[in-house]
Parts: sequence; structure tokens; C-alpha cells
Amino acid sequence: MTQRVALITGGIGGLGTEICRYLARSGNRVIAADLGTRKERVDAFLGEVDEFKASIFFEPLDVADYAGCAAALADITARHGPVSILVNAAGITRDTRLCKMSEQQWSEVITVNLDGVFNTCRALIDGMTERGFGRIVNISSVNGQTGQFGQTNYSAAKAGMHGFTMALAREVARKGVTVNSVSPGYCETALVMAVPEAVREQIIGNIPIGRLGKPFEIARVVDFLCADDSAFITGANIPVNGGYFMDF
Ligand code: CAA
Repeated sequence: MTQRVALITGGIGGLGTEICRYLARSGNRVIAADLGTRKERVDAFLGEVDEFKASIFFEPLDVADYAGCAAALADITARHGPVSILVNAAGITRDTRLCKMSEQQWSEVITVNLDGVFNTCRALIDGMTERGFGRIVNISSVNGQTGQFGQTNYSAAKAGMHGFTMALAREVARKGVTVNSVSPGYCETALVMAVPEAVREQIIGNIPIGRLGKPFEIARVVDFLCADDSAFITGANIPVNGGYFMDF
């Protein structure tokens, strides 16, 4: 099996950590790319993935900074090899109703969650098409599909991610590169645990499976899409939400 380089933005986060583990288990050299400013969190992450220390590496990356992102990804490519698998899992929330939302709360979410996808894909897409192989998975959200109270910024960014996914999928389909979205529902992550308990309980009551998702339940879908054998799936969105939102 070819060892591919897989880069996961938001790689030390709740979903990101589990995605790193899955992709490492599948034989990839995994780069967990995330802000290097939270040293305690980086150290905790390295402890959590210690059993994969030969195949998971941390690299600092700020997806919100276009030029910085291009420079960091060029440097990572030079040291680890060309990136064949890109998972955009970096995401933040600034929840509040639109009538109270500041311009900063809007732009922070759009910059990290949506511009960040442009910044990483723009830096890596030529390498993938030139080599004739690539897998891009964008972590969107059920709240991009349904809209969520208090999340005009987040829902807009997450819906935008899937529009981006479909458009790019068409552009690179003949070059061996697939581009897909995964839309998680409410999972056991810090982001969801930050939702006020009463609101969270109400949300869980509306999940047909009756519980929050576990990060590995998202990660295994990402890993599936990144496999060499998943070459005929592109421009798709895979919902993983316990039945919280069903459509076809
Ligand atoms: N639907 C309708 N009305 C609602 C409501 C809802 N879902 N939630 C609150 N309200 C009502 C309140 O009852 C209140 O009514 P009154 O004024 O009549 O009392 C009114 O709206 C205003 O409430 P707040 O002043 O509390 O509103 P706020 O602007 O401070 O925002 C909030 C509240 C922060 C948005 C809070 O409701 C919240 O945290 N909601 C959950 C948001 C959420 O699900 N975020 C997901 C984070 S995890 C994630 O994003 C990962 C993923 O992809 C799934």
C-alpha cells in the first residue's frame, strides 16, 4: 500500500484527533495541522496519539491567513512529502442571534470555516492534479443543511463549504482528485459541550438515535472517502447525524 501524506486542519480538535487516528491506522503519514498557540492542547494531543508517534506529526498552521497558509503548506510539503489527502476540519462557533451578532463574530466564523477551505485547497490543488491523485474532505455540518437558531454565521459558512465542494469536484474530476463533504450532526466534542445544557438536551431529544455522535463515527466516514478505492465518489455530502436531519 502506498503511504500517502494526509493533512488534517483542526487536527488537534475533537473530530480532528479521531480523524488523525483513523488515517494513521489506514497507513498514511498524518499531519495534524492546527494553531500552535495553544501549547497545552498540543501537548495533550501528542499524548493522546502517542501510540501513533511514528506516523502522526503536529505542524502549526493558521488556516485563516492566506499567505501564511501557503508558506506553511509549502514548508510541510518540503519536509513530509506532497500532500495527497486534505481534510478541512478547522472550525469555530460564535453563536448568537443575528440581531446581536457583531461584524467580528460574523467574519471570524466565515474566515476560519470558509476562507480557510479556500486557503488550504488553493495551496494544495495543483500538486494533487499534477500527480493525478488527491482526496479532499470538507467537514461541513448538519447545521449548514438545516440552519440553526443562533448560527447565521456558522450555517452560512457550512452551507458554503458544500457549494465549494461541488464546484471544485467538477474542476478536478478528471485528474484523479475527489472532493466531498461530510456533515456531522451533534457529536461529543467541546464545541457541542459549550452549548447551554438545556439547549443541548432539547437537541438530543430530537436525534432519532437518542444520543450524541462519537468522533470516531465521523472519522471512519472520512477515512472511507480518503481511500484509493473511493475514486467514484465525488461532489457528495455524507450526513452522519443519528437521523437528526434526513433527506435525499
Ligand atoms: N428556537 C426558537 N427560539 C429559541 C431557540 C430556538 N432554538 N433558542 C432560544 N430561543 C428563544 C429563547 O427562548 C428566547 O426567547 P424569549 O426572548 O421569548 O425569552 C429568545 O430565543 C432569545 O434567547 P437568547 O437571548 O438566549 O438568545 P441569544 O441571542 O443569546 O442566543 C444561543 C442563544 C447562544 C443561540 C443559544 O440558543 C444556543 O446556544 N443555541 C444553540 C446553538 C447551537 O446549536 N450551536 C451548535 C454548536 S455545535 C456545532 O455547531 C457543531 C455542529 O456542527 C453540529
